[in-house]
Amino acid sequence: MDFHQWLGDSWCVLFSHPADYTPVCTTELGAVAKLKNEFARRNVKVLAVSVDPLDSHHGWIKDINETQGCTMNFPLIADADRNISTLYDMIHPNADSTAAVRAVFIIGPDKKIKLVLTYPATTGRNFPEILRAIDSLQLTANHKLATPADWKDGEDCIVVTAVTDDDAARLFRKGLRKVKPYLRYTPHPKN
Ligand code: BEZ
Repeated sequence: MDFHQWLGDSWCVLFSHPADYTPVCTTELGAVAKLKNEFARRNVKVLAVSVDPLDSHHGWIKDINETQGCTMNFPLIADADRNISTLYDMIHPNADSTAAVRAVFIIGPDKKIKLVLTYPATTGRNFPEILRAIDSLQLTANHKLATPADWKDGEDCIVVTAVTDDDAARLFRKGLRKVKPYLRYTPHPKN
């Protein structure tokens, strides 16, 4: 696949797995397959990578579908030569010199990396958090806003400090709540 061509105008979640036929990864791939509609409505394409060959992936995908009650619906790269895992720094020699850690890259339609998460092999990822981060990234790509701790889509947002009060009043007509000069909230633009 040509990554940039495949991605087109979509966002991407690229995430790595230590190896095929491993229990935590099996649950993660099933969880992501079941979130298909959530990724689709955010215009996000999902791409997994595991450092095992294609024939191994085919057998493992059958197990994932069987045990997780899902149908795998996104590509799983066979990175047997570790080319992609190495380029993206997914292999951390202090953890394991050959297997990838659990890395997550959220990539924008401009093909630039917007967010990186790294988990150890023994900790499965929280995909609602990844969706939440995508909501924040997509909002802040289009508005001079930031999102506070534990923010969820639809909740009040923070006006970035580079925006003056006068500009904030003009830009955010739904209201401005000034707690401190540097801490100003406004309703989510979609509300
Ligand atoms: C897992 O995916 O279950 C796993 C992989 C490597 C080490 C520990 C757990």
